[in-house]
Amino acid sequence: MRPEVQPFRHEATGTWSYVVVDTSSRLCAVIDPVLDFDAKSGRSSATSAGAIADFVRAQGLTNEWILETHAHADHLSAAPWLQAAVGGKIAIGQGIREVQKAFRDILNLEPAFPVDGRQFDRLLADGELVSIGALSARAIATPGHTSDSLSYLVGDAVFVGDSIFMPDSGTARCDFPGGDAALLYASIRRLYELPGATRVFVCHDYKPGGREACCETTIAAQREGNIHVKDATSEAEFTAMRRKRDATLEMPALIYPAVQFNIRGGRPPPAESNGRSYLKLPLSGPET
Ligand SMILES: [Fe+2]
Repeated sequence: MRPEVQPFRHEATGTWSYVVVDTSSRLCAVIDPVLDFDAKSGRSSATSAGAIADFVRAQGLTNEWILETHAHADHLSAAPWLQAAVGGKIAIGQGIREVQKAFRDILNLEPAFPVDGRQFDRLLADGELVSIGALSARAIATPGHTSDSLSYLVGDAVFVGDSIFMPDSGTARCDFPGGDAALLYASIRRLYELPGATRVFVCHDYKPGGREACCETTIAAQREGNIHVKDATSEAEFTAMRRKRDATLEMPALIYPAVQFNIRGGRPPPAESNGRSYLKLPLSGPET
């Protein structure tokens, strides 16, 4: 099975979203749609997600699923907007419950905030299948970057979320709540067991060295050339590298807005008494 894959790039956050098409039935799934967000004004728009909706309509597709690879920390999900526009059920890994619990505590969210994942239409466990016409997407739990991280295997294509990036970019950071470099190493080893010709579609690309943005590689190319995890790389080598590197990384610019939306299934916090929603920013500072 070789699904048709249409990538969409969100340049502001370096994110790749995808439409995966079963050409026989004209059913499709959308992976990781992005909501445009201006942190200075709090204004969001659906220009980027609109391009995905336009593609779905123009191709005469029926959208079955909106598949999140994880609760992203760098961009806001457009899943609810896209669902209203073209339909589809919103799914994420069942580990979202751990992410919700962690950020409920960090952000001191309202007592009624549910941490059972009910904000999503479907929570997927490792190995579960969802169908897209004649295709099926198999959830592969790939925790390490976050505890809810899933990859989706659809025919000969795997959508790996934030686990491995393009070979010249290495791997995702593991220093968010629930992140674990040893877990990520094990997840990458699982991905490397897929056939070498499997097409790998990444969630981000930041164009290292000024090259063109890329979204697609193969398992064979990753095993041979990923700068962080090759076939011969040991867990100890990887975790030492990852922890050292993570200690140097700044927080993503949109982490608090993104997390507050994304643990609510891509929706803002409840409106306050004036009818508007607001975001929180936990403060820390010098001891007095
Ligand atoms: Fe991420």
